[in-house]
Amino acid sequence: MNGRKLLNGNVATIFDKNAFNPEALLPDSKFNATADRVALGRTLFYDSRISGNGKTNCGSCHQPGKAYADGLKTSKGFDNKFVDRNAPSIMYASLQQALFYDLRAPSLEDQAADVIHNKLEMHGSMDDVAKLVATDESYKRDFKKAYPELDSISPVYIQNALASFVRSLNPFNSPFDKYMRGDKKVLTDDQVKGFNVFMGKAKCGTCHFVPLFNGTVPPDFQRTESEVLGVTVHADWKNPVLDKDPGRGVHDQFPQWKNAFKTSSVRNIAKTAPYMHNGAFATMQEVMEFYNEGGGAGLGLDVPNQTLAAEKLNLTAIEITQVISFMEALTDAPE
Ligand code: HEC
Ligand code: HEC
Repeated sequence: MNGRKLLNGNVATIFDKNAFNPEALLPDSKFNATADRVALGRTLFYDSRISGNGKTNCGSCHQPGKAYADGLKTSKGFDNKFVDRNAPSIMYASLQQALFYDLRAPSLEDQAADVIHNKLEMHGSMDDVAKLVATDESYKRDFKKAYPELDSISPVYIQNALASFVRSLNPFNSPFDKYMRGDKKVLTDDQVKGFNVFMGKAKCGTCHFVPLFNGTVPPDFQRTESEVLGVTVHADWKNPVLDKDPGRGVHDQFPQWKNAFKTSSVRNIAKTAPYMHNGAFATMQEVMEFYNEGGGAGLGLDVPNQTLAAEKLNLTAIEITQVISFMEALTDAPE
């Protein structure tokens, strides 16, 4: 650790545009972003030559018009086969201590290599990508601009360029952000009421922490939490079926982490349906109904380690609509 904090010490409030510094989690300042590194990362992000069959790029599953999600229940990967999980938005992903639903990647650099190598996703190799960058004239130029101090092109800097691009996707310019910075006209009455329900009666804010609305815990914002909700395979509340994905249980052999998933951010959630790691819920309404029932355990399923309270929230239809309108106010304006 470099001793820097995700939350900048010199801002007036946590709602400032520059309140958070995604580079605080980098092991060394030599990996800090520059405009040229972000540009190189962006080009690689949309280049299918970095996948094993030349057909998939990061942007296939993380589409800018969908807040960098893909709109599918679970993503279509290599050879058009569906992968096991839903593609999350990668906006604000840098403001988490670890990546993926099961928190298995400690940094965005590791994450990028993981996806490129993953047989189901891109089935490529970092060495091949480094060779591509070293032999393609335009990449050679861009790499030299991005890393003028380096004599050779090695995978770790390609991972760093991709990660720098992902770290650039934190616009903080949603109506909610503008409201918190003083423009009181940008939220409707329902949205303000919805925020109060989100923070109060519905207890959403006890896991989706303000202002990132993910699992990165205030006040020091250095650690990202996972939780057990008892997510079901579909939104049939009369015949609920528990999802089998072990989540963190796969690599962390503690019973309390069975079926635990990283708390996703609800920023830009209006653009990233369907929801949850398995894409089980098609609409925000279904997500709200699931929470209103008390999650899996509240629906009567056997989830002994559920961390979401199993009691029904008893939200009224109006309160549910208000929370949904509030979440719609977390959509960033195009930059
Ligand atoms: C085949 C579709 C697909 C492709 C291609 C793909 N991703 Fe993903 N991405 C996913 C899925 C699905 C997840 C969630 C996987 C999990 O959590 O196990 C994910 C997760 C992520 C995350 C973690 C987000 C978080 O909050 O934890 C980041 C960052 C990311 N991808 C960036 C990239 C980059 C960079 C590339 C290209 C090198 C890429 N992805 C290529 C589908 C894809
Ligand atoms: C006990 C902690 C906890 C509470 C309380 C909680 N959430 Fe979540 N939320 C999570 C976790 C963990 C996930 C990711 C679960 C998964 O993917 O399986 C999540 C996922 C979501 C998603 C889907 C994100 C996506 O990209 O797919 C939405 C929307 C959401 N929560 C909204 C809410 C709302 C609204 C409330 C209050 C009614 C709430 N949450 C209460 C922990 C919590």
